[in-house]
Amino acid sequence: MKVVVSVGGSVLVPDMEPDRVDAYADAVEALDEAGHALGAVVGGGPTAREYITAARELGANEIELDQLGIEVTRLNGRLLIAALDDRAAPTPPESYEEAREAMRRGDIPVMGGMVAGQTTDAVSAALAEYVSADLLIYATSVPGVYSADPDEDDDAEKYDRITAGDLVDLIGGIEMTAGSNAPVDLLAAKIIERAGLRTIVLDGTDPEAVQRAIETGEHDGTDVVPAEAAAPDEWER
Ligand code: UTP
Repeated sequence: MKVVVSVGGSVLVPDMEPDRVDAYADAVEALDEAGHALGAVVGGGPTAREYITAARELGANEIELDQLGIEVTRLNGRLLIAALDDRAAPTPPESYEEAREAMRRGDIPVMGGMVAGQTTDAVSAALAEYVSADLLIYATSVPGVYSADPDEDDDAEKYDRITAGDLVDLIGGIEMTAGSNAPVDLLAAKIIERAGLRTIVLDGTDPEAVQRAIETGEHDGTDVVPAEAAAPDEWER
């Protein structure tokens, strides 16, 4: 199966703990050895936020802040590359073409951010669309997609399953509320919808749970299903 794994920076590097990165690399390597073709995308996490906060105070504009964020995502990507050793392409690809070429060679591309004005959520969806992935998985710091922001609303419920169209509507509503957290960004949701990408959003704290979700389709997060829903052949459901 061809899979794009998006690992949030706050999941992979909430602090500088090499063992955590190594555990993720072990899960990715196990999937690679099982014959899956993998692409990975890594987010910026608290380090990106620290840099962005400091640079904002220093007067940087929003595009400059995004560029800083991109640099940090690529830095975090290099940590996963270091842990993956020779299974990974040696540097974070600077284009989707480069990433696809790496996958064709049998290497694992580890991407970071690409352009200002989006997040790595959108990079992951675009890579998945570009390589015609069977599955896109978001290993995030939230347990799944909720009907409202669970930090703001006690009645927020987690969806086991949601259509891509409903995800776009939901996130469009959430993103209009300043300061609230969307599980994936709106551009990512729109790419998922147009590409008909089978997607999972789940708590990425445990890399083995992410591995299991990819191998079996079993997880405690949210399945985002395209209108023409078909589970990967490898899953028994
Ligand atoms: P992240 O993808 O980690 O953003 O990129 P995020 O969703 O804010 O972080 P998490 O998931 O909560 O940890 C970090 C920052 O890098 C810039 C943005 O400023 C983003 O907030 N970025 C990233 C881009 O401008 N373009 C990209 O393609 C990726």
